[in-house]
Formats: sequence, C-alpha cells, structure tokens
Amino acid sequence: MSHKSTDLSSGADRKHFIRGMFDEIAGRYDLLNRLLTFGRDRYWRRELVRLLDPQPRERALDLACGTGDQGRALLDSEPGVHLVGADPVSGMLRLAGGKIPAAGLVCCEAEALPFPAHCFQLITIAFGVRNFTMLEASLKELHRVLAPGGRLGVLEFAVPRSGLLAPLYRWYMTWVLPRVGGLLSRSYAYRYLTESIEQFPDPDRFIRLLESIGFSGIATRNFLGGTVWIYRGIKEGEI
Ligand SMILES: C[S@@+](CC[C@H](N)C(=O)[O-])C[C@H]1O[C@@H](n2cnc3c(N)ncnc32)[C@H](O)[C@@H]1O
Repeated sequence: MSHKSTDLSSGADRKHFIRGMFDEIAGRYDLLNRLLTFGRDRYWRRELVRLLDPQPRERALDLACGTGDQGRALLDSEPGVHLVGADPVSGMLRLAGGKIPAAGLVCCEAEALPFPAHCFQLITIAFGVRNFTMLEASLKELHRVLAPGGRLGVLEFAVPRSGLLAPLYRWYMTWVLPRVGGLLSRSYAYRYLTESIEQFPDPDRFIRLLESIGFSGIATRNFLGGTVWIYRGIKEGEI
C-alpha cells in the first residue's frame, strides 16, 4: 500500500508527482486504460478524430500523447497527416515510438511548447488536459501554436451531475476503480484519477475557458451520460 499523497499544495510538487506517476505506470497504462474504460476509449478516440476531420498533409500535434493511442487513431483515419506526439514523460514517449513510428516525438510540457506560432492545423489531447498543472497558460500555448482556422480537439472525463449515470459513476469510482486499478497500479494513481476528474472544470466552465482564450465554433459530444466529453474549438482567422 502506497502512502503517497495526492494532496499537493504547490504547482512544482504537483508537476513532479504527475510526471513520476505516469513514468511509473507507463508499462501498464494501455491495459489499465482498456480495462477501466471497458475498451470504449477506442471508440471515443475515433469520434474525436471524426469531429476534427483531418486532411492529407495537415500538420498535427497530439499533446500529452502518452503511449500514442490518440495519434494512432488519427493516422489510421488519415495516414497523410504529418504528426508530432509530445509528452513530458520519457517512459510514455518510448512506448509511443512503437505505436506511431512515423510521428516526430518531442519531450515537453503543455505550458511551454517548443514550437513556433501557427505551425499546426490540428491539435488533439486525449485524457491529458486534466493533468496540466497550468491549465490556462497551456491552453494559451495551444492557441499560439495553432494556425488560424486550425482545430483543437479535447477528449476528457467529467463528473456526471444528474441523471441515471450519476449514481452509477459514484458506484464505479468507489467500488470498481479501486479494485481493478489496485490490481495494476498503486492506490495513489487511481486516487489521483478520481480527484483530478473532480477538480477539472465542468463542461460549461471548460467551454467558457476555451472561448475566453480565443477558440470559437465550439462543438461538443458526450458519452456515457456525460462521463466522457469531446470538445472541438477553432482558432479564429483565415487558414
Ligand atoms: C492519462 S494520460 C493520456 C495519454 C494519451 N493521450 C491517451 O489518450 O492515452 C495523460 C498524459 O499526460 C501527460 N502529461 C502530464 N502532465 C503534462 C503536461 N504538463 N503537459 C503535457 N502532457 C502532460 C502524461 O505524461 C501522460 O502521458
């Protein structure tokens, strides 16, 4: 039983904790993902790509790429895209290299992207924004590196506030997640998952945040009664 705390007061502690956790679970991440989403993540990833409608020769960034599953979904849909995968955790990037060998891989944090302004037409982030220690600064960075008319697509969990799924979600988080997660990862890792979902802005707030940064044409889809959300925003201006 790990006694690591997920109660992190300073940004630097939180960043260090998040990196260390993803480095530790990298080798089991795909299995955990499949089990904890009942394999549905593949469908959500394809839907994110569908909403973004990638075109041949477009430059795309998959940020917080992890082991490369979202980048893989993008290339499976449109092999003509020029893809860069970026993540601050080298253990994750190593695995991404096997899954998306055609992509360029860059080790970096969302709040300090080592790319020039306006250089991508497409950005995807799957289950990543929740982990950004500086959410607003990171979204501003994404806006900076996106070309005018470029599309940002975010796939993320949310807490369902009402309806049938709300009690089911609480049951899943209380009973299923600790058991399945506990078999494959330290207890602090799935505690972090629950807490980070609860602390992330709800869909209305997240949409307002995207708009305040300059994204327009916001489109959303949600699945499992509001447990999983896709957001698409467009950077204003001519392509
Ligand atoms: C839950 S995983 C998602 C991985 C992958 N996108 C997927 O869909 O399976 C979250 C990823 O966010 C990365 N991450 C954590 N903090 C980050 C930051 N500040 N900037 C960019 N990526 C970050 C982690 O290293 C991890 O690979």
